[in-house]
Amino acid sequence: ERGGYEHFMIKEIYEQPKAIRETMTGRLAKDDSGVIFDELNWTKEYVASIRKVAIVACGTAYHAGMVGKYLIEKLTRIPVEVDVASEFRYRSPLVDEHTLTVIISQSGETLDTLAGLKEAKKQGSRVLAVTNVVGSSIAREADHVIYTWAGPEIAVASTKAYTTQLIVMALLSVYMGGLKGTIPPETSKELCHGLKNLPAQAHELLEDVEAIKTFAEQYGFNEDVFFIGRSLDYAVALEGSLKLKEISYIHAEAYSAGELKHGTLALIIEGIPVIALATQLDVYEKMLSNIKEVKARDAVVIGIGFKGDTEIDKYVDHTIFIPATNKYLTPILSVIPLQLLAYYAAVTRGCDVDKPRNLAKSVTVE
Ligand code: F6R
Repeated sequence: ERGGYEHFMIKEIYEQPKAIRETMTGRLAKDDSGVIFDELNWTKEYVASIRKVAIVACGTAYHAGMVGKYLIEKLTRIPVEVDVASEFRYRSPLVDEHTLTVIISQSGETLDTLAGLKEAKKQGSRVLAVTNVVGSSIAREADHVIYTWAGPEIAVASTKAYTTQLIVMALLSVYMGGLKGTIPPETSKELCHGLKNLPAQAHELLEDVEAIKTFAEQYGFNEDVFFIGRSLDYAVALEGSLKLKEISYIHAEAYSAGELKHGTLALIIEGIPVIALATQLDVYEKMLSNIKEVKARDAVVIGIGFKGDTEIDKYVDHTIFIPATNKYLTPILSVIPLQLLAYYAAVTRGCDVDKPRNLAKSVTVE
């Protein structure tokens, strides 16, 4: 059932081009003019009435929510809050009938997330669930459901569920922005076009993993790793760090690069691996200065940049290049090398990749 792969996790990493393609199927207008969600069928008036979006999720799904916040705010100009479900449910959240609560959960069964959903409903909020499991508790309790069509995810570490959640976040932002009139038609077109290219680009990234394997073997025995990035790259850094921690047991921390100076830089010493994401061109120069800061402390820096970026190469020890895409879509590609890095580090260390210690696939207890 692992289809020739050594672990479910690597099989699921390789299933991502198909999973993201299927999650977009039927949801992009033929002429790339916008997004169609038959399952929502929202009106302009409804979207105009939304004053706030509250995203609630746990773990990897929460990281997808962080990307969602960025995209929804940029493309709809509606303020978005993101909470981990175990905090949201106990903090008397300020949601009401003008709030759209978006609940993200691969399994649709995570207890805290389900409780967050119920709390939002109790306060009068409309609830949209984004889940991978048809008929799951979260799908049943929500007012609307958008399914991610990732197929069953078996490995404890979430990979294809995350990238398909990102696809839904992008589709939802374009959909809502279209109805709200906050996205110029050319931007909408560009995004739809960019989305269509992603399966082939993800496939391309998965074709050449030798460099990543080598890094994992080289740095797999280091006990601390840092991930840094700005803007959307910061959200991806958090996910890369979680992947590495949970399956390879390497201590990893993700930092927004601009925060380094406020404490974490004290930990950057000679030989510490730092994974630096630099795909967000509006903060690119800032990111390069942060890379120089860690390099000045003799960290070993692995950069993630766009293919053709000759600048970053000058400051890092190794670069992993990702294909060029729209800036809002980069997380879907940049996370793939990080998933692979975590996977090969865990394999190098002889860890039980699909069933990491102390963790369960579906957390149905508090
Ligand atoms: C990490 C991971 C977990 C889950 C979290 C939420 O790789 O898998 O952090 O993302 O437990 O699970 P779902 O999405 O099923 O609610």
